[in-house]
Amino acid sequence: RRRVTLGTLRSLHKAGDPIAMITAHDFPSAHVADAAGIDIILVGDSLAMVALGMEDTSEVVLDDMILHCRAVARATKSAFTVGDLPMGSYEISSEQAVTSAIRLVKEGRVQGVKLEGGQEMAPTIARITAAGIPVLGHVGLTPQRQNSLGGFRVQGKTAESALKVLKDAMAVQEAGCFATVLEAVPAEISSVITKRLKIPTIGIGAGNGCSGQVLVQIDMTGNFPPGRFLPKFVKRYGDVWRESMTAIEKYREEVKSRTYPSPEHTYPITQSELVEFER
Ligand code: KIV
Ligand code: NA
Repeated sequence: RRRVTLGTLRSLHKAGDPIAMITAHDFPSAHVADAAGIDIILVGDSLAMVALGMEDTSEVVLDDMILHCRAVARATKSAFTVGDLPMGSYEISSEQAVTSAIRLVKEGRVQGVKLEGGQEMAPTIARITAAGIPVLGHVGLTPQRQNSLGGFRVQGKTAESALKVLKDAMAVQEAGCFATVLEAVPAEISSVITKRLKIPTIGIGAGNGCSGQVLVQIDMTGNFPPGRFLPKFVKRYGDVWRESMTAIEKYREEVKSRTYPSPEHTYPITQSELVEFER
């Protein structure tokens, strides 16, 4: 497969072909996503919770993102790679945002960056875009602002808040975003917004009318312990946790019973060398 570029994404959008995006947080998860033919790999700040065990995304810092972006970039041969700007790395000023975006690209080796926010972030998006760095928008539910939103709530359920999501999406488009994530928005609203925009929308909990979809890989592969809360929009396509558990339990049993390692997993030595050694 050839490298996915902004041109590739534009062609997909123009042809009405959905864009498939997924998160990756390290070398193996990027490797498998890339091999599976994913169009965009996102190093999301969801890594704070799903890969680093933090309470929420506000705990992750730019240096953490850079480390994980680098690992993902090393494994990605064809997908377009995007890194999340974490909370605190872009809100203070456009200069701060450009500096952080440049670090994600230069040190993290990703091709584009994502930041959360609509109208209020437009000047910042324009500055990063002007620096030659593709920006992916993120409007609707913006998890970094969960405290001011009053938690993880669906956005755009009233006419007034739906209009705000539309205005935010239009603003990030005008500011130069090549696409925007639409998170936790009723399907009908997302469809209207998608039709109004020239750039693709990548939905998460935003219904089937978006130009593409994104999910957190660990959620959709089922790579988490039973009983964990999952948002309504997550579809579990696999049971990676069970698969790993079965393998590791078997290994543990074989170690305890000295079944592992058997001769096939052991280095041989010739009888004469052994005799000489033992002398
Ligand atoms: O951090 C993340 O994984 C994200 C996607 C879910 C859009 O922002
Ligand atoms: Na994110």
